[in-house]
Amino acid sequence: MKKTIREDDGDINWFRAASPYINAHRGKTLVIAMPGSWLRSELLPTLTHDLTLLSHLGLRLVLCFGLRAQMEDQLAQDQEQSDIVDGRRVTDSHALETIISAAGVARNDLESRLSMGLPNTPMAGARLAVTSGNYVTAQPFGIRDGIDFQHTGSVREVHSSAINAILDAGHMVLLPPLGYSLTGEVFNVTVSEVATECAIALKADKLAFFVDSLPIDEDGSPLRQASSRRIERVLNNPSQTDKADSSNMTLNTILNHAVKACQGDVERVHLLESDDPTALLRELFTRDGSGTLITMDRWEHIRPATIADVGGIIQLIAPLQTNGTLVTRSREDLELDIENFVVSERDGMVVACAAIYLEPETATAEFACIVTHPDYQGEGRADQLLMHLEERARELNCVSARILSTHTGHWFVARGYSETPRQDLPPVRRVSYNEQRNSKIYSKRLDLK
Ligand SMILES: CC(C)(COP(=O)(O)OP(=O)(O)OC[C@H]1O[C@@H](n2cnc3c(N)ncnc32)[C@H](O)[C@@H]1OP(=O)(O)O)[C@@H](O)C(=O)NCCC(=O)NCCS
Repeated sequence: MKKTIREDDGDINWFRAASPYINAHRGKTLVIAMPGSWLRSELLPTLTHDLTLLSHLGLRLVLCFGLRAQMEDQLAQDQEQSDIVDGRRVTDSHALETIISAAGVARNDLESRLSMGLPNTPMAGARLAVTSGNYVTAQPFGIRDGIDFQHTGSVREVHSSAINAILDAGHMVLLPPLGYSLTGEVFNVTVSEVATECAIALKADKLAFFVDSLPIDEDGSPLRQASSRRIERVLNNPSQTDKADSSNMTLNTILNHAVKACQGDVERVHLLESDDPTALLRELFTRDGSGTLITMDRWEHIRPATIADVGGIIQLIAPLQTNGTLVTRSREDLELDIENFVVSERDGMVVACAAIYLEPETATAEFACIVTHPDYQGEGRADQLLMHLEERARELNCVSARILSTHTGHWFVARGYSETPRQDLPPVRRVSYNEQRNSKIYSKRLDLK
C-alpha cells in the first residue's frame, strides 16, 4: 500500500526526537537566573508558559529573578542614584527600600502569571504551585577598596533542605535577589550569585542564565560548548570581558559564576540568548540545543556501566557488529559482562562505551568495544574513554594495555600503541584468539609516561 506523507509528520518526528530528552530531564533540578528586564518583556508570558510545561514534565524548578532594571527606573523617578561597582550595587537605605518593594511587586506578578497554568491547551487549569521564602542567608559584602557597600550582601548559605522539600512536593521555588542575615537584616544580592549558590547547594543538574550575547570563541563565532577550563581561558581574553547584557549583569560575571558552578559540581550551565523565546525549550529538548553549554569538564560523564545501560550499548554497537567491525555480543553476554564496561553519557543517553578486561597473569589490561555514536564522533570522547581505561588499568597495577582491532589500528597507533606480532600474545590469550577475524594486535606500556 502506498504510504502518504501527512503535513504533521514533522511535528511527530520532532516529538519522537524530543522523547529521550523528556525522559532524561524528568526529576532533574534546573535553576534559572532571569534578569529583571524580563519581568517587563513581551517574552515573559512565553517563559512562564514554558516553566509551567517543564514543571508538568517533571523538572524541579527554581526561578531566581533580578531587579536591576526596576531599581534603575525607580531610583531615577526618585531622583536618587546608586553606584554599581564590579557588577554590585552600593545599596544605601533608600536603594534597599526600593529593592524590597520591587521584589514584592515582581513576586506577585510572577505568581499570578504562573497561576494561569497552560491557557489555550488541553492542560489549561493544570496549576503550578509557587513558593518563595527566606531560603538565602546573606552577610554584608563589606568595605572593598575603601567603598562601603552598605546593604549589599553576599550569599552565606542556601537552605537546600527546605528548598528540596518544596521541590519534592512539586512546587516551583521563586527566589528574589535578597538574602537575610541571622540578625534579621535584609541584603541586596545579585541574581547570578543567588542562582549559582542555589544550584551548588542543591547539586542542581542544570543552571541557566539568560544573556544578551553569547561568549565567543577564538575565531569570533559564538561558543556552542565548552568545558569550564576553556571558559577560564575565554575570561582571560580581554575582548570578552567587558561586554554587558541588558540587565547589566556583565557576561564575564556570569561566566565566572558558570565556572564556579561547574567547580561546585553543577553538571551543566546553559547560557541562553535573552531575545530568543525558544531558547530554553530548544536547549533542553533538541540535539543541537541553543546558546552555550558549559560543563564541568566535558559534555558527558564517564561512569561504570550498569545493567540499565545494556539497551543503550546494544544500540551503539549493533551496526558495528553487523558490518564486522566488532565481535558479536548477545544481550546475555553483555548483561554478564556489564561490569567491565564504562559509558560516556550526555543528557542521560549513552553516547560512547568501552570495556576493560584484566589478564592478571601478565599484568595486562585489554580494552575492547570502544565505540562513539556517529553523531558524537570527532570530539575526543573515545580519547577520553581510552585515557580513563588506561588510568584505571594503572590503578589496578597493570603494566601494559592491549587492543585487538580489524579497522581502527591507526587510531590506536596515534595514541601510543604499536602493532605487536601475534606470536607475542601470551598463551593465556592465544587460546581465545579468533583466527577467523584475524585482528591485528596493538599494545602500549602503561608504566612509562
Ligand atoms: C574510532 C572511534 C571509537 C573514535 O571515536 P571518537 O569519539 O570520534 O574519537 P576521538 O574524538 O577521540 O578521535 C577522533 C579522531 O580519530 C580519527 N579516527 C576515527 N576513526 C579512525 C580510524 N578508524 N582510524 C584512524 N583514525 C580514526 C578521526 O578522524 C578523528 O581525527 P581528528 O582528531 O584528526 O579529527 C569511532 O570512530 C568509532 O566508534 N568507530 C567504530 C568502532 C571502532 O572501530 N572501535 C575501535 C575498535 S574497539
